Amino acid sequence: MNLTEQLAGVDLLAGTWARGVPHDQFDLLREHEPVHWHPEPGDTGFWALTRHEDVRRVSHDWETFSSELGATFIPTQDEESLAQLNLSILNMDPPRHNRMRRLVSRAFTPRVIARLVEEIERRAEAVVDSVIDRGGCEFVEDIAAQVPVQMICEMIGLEGELWPRMFEISNDLIGSRDDPAYSDVDPKASSAEIYALCDAVAENRRRVPRDDLMTALVEAEVDGERLDNLELNLFFLTLVVAGNETTRNLINHSLVVLLEHPEQAQRLREDPSLWDTAVEEMLRWGSSIHNFRRTATRDTEIRGVPIAAGDKVVLYYAAANRDPEVFEAPHTFDVGRTPNDHVAFGGGGVHYCLGANLARAEIRATMRQVVERLPGMQLAGEPERLRSDFVNGIKTMPVTW
Ligand code: HEM
Repeated sequence: MNLTEQLAGVDLLAGTWARGVPHDQFDLLREHEPVHWHPEPGDTGFWALTRHEDVRRVSHDWETFSSELGATFIPTQDEESLAQLNLSILNMDPPRHNRMRRLVSRAFTPRVIARLVEEIERRAEAVVDSVIDRGGCEFVEDIAAQVPVQMICEMIGLEGELWPRMFEISNDLIGSRDDPAYSDVDPKASSAEIYALCDAVAENRRRVPRDDLMTALVEAEVDGERLDNLELNLFFLTLVVAGNETTRNLINHSLVVLLEHPEQAQRLREDPSLWDTAVEEMLRWGSSIHNFRRTATRDTEIRGVPIAAGDKVVLYYAAANRDPEVFEAPHTFDVGRTPNDHVAFGGGGVHYCLGANLARAEIRATMRQVVERLPGMQLAGEPERLRSDFVNGIKTMPVTW
């Protein structure tokens, strides 16, 4: 196949991701066509960006590359869906985004996060306590999902009996986008269930404030303004999904790579001071969000390629995270890698992941428990991947030890 044919064969639609992250296609694009026009059956098509520098540049330039105009998912939205999506922080541009971000940031201060870190470590230990004598488990549900789902529920004030339901709802919301296994799911009903829970907790915290994230959210005020109920609902939904699937899958991929490279796990057992760099390398490697989209607000260019106003531009984080211009031996997993300027939490700028430090603490605590207390862990079956062009997901992964 010549180069033109190879480029024409690039397929970044959902079916591809069910087989794994297409690093061969990313290598091809990054090298030969870093600003690549990708057709989209039944839709407009989009520009696919695979270089680290371009992902960073576009993420920082919200005036030219909007999150609000068409929202951050690749498919073009109808007016009603767009209006709904635009209530979420992810799909806003400044100045609306500034107001929202300032409000919710009150609930993610370094003091709040530092207090949560102790709790995260306690919970990760309890998760491994609960399975260690069984000799095996379903890694995704029994281990990887636990700390992220418990922490998000705890922060937003949902009691323990709701944790399994939150695990299901977030699977349904992400799975129903592309995966046939979720074709019976009605995402509107799942969202409505979350909104009802949110309304109940918010109402309770207005009457009886507590020292928690939901109280901080209902009380947060910027220029005399507070979040209204709809905004709270949408933020709640963003947290349930963003704080859950992403971190859980990062833990899944970290396990897979450590099982493939037991010598890297051994380095961590012998030298725990490597955990700081190891967590960054797990993020670079696992990149649990495949992409977010922007929409050009005006005619512009990237690397000299003309981009028209209204064009969709998609940022492929896993591709940027293997860019040889930034990472030496990019396809090598190295727990000691430094520097490590990965873009797993986004390319920087106004939408940089609000939960980055929380996620880091959850990944570290869970993986440290697994590496140190379950050193004989092995796969007991093939991991089953999620069919999604958004979340780099593993649905099930049986393990023994
Ligand atoms: C490994 C775990 C995670 C990954 C890979 C991840 C990834 C991302 C990425 C790529 C963005 C940027 C979106 C954009 O530029 O359009 C983002 C934004 C965001 N993330 Fe995360 N995230 C993770 C964990 C979390 C957690 C634990 C939370 C909350 C508890 C969270 C909450 C958010 C929120 C609220 C935003 C939107 C920020 C804004 O638009 O201003 N994330 N995340």
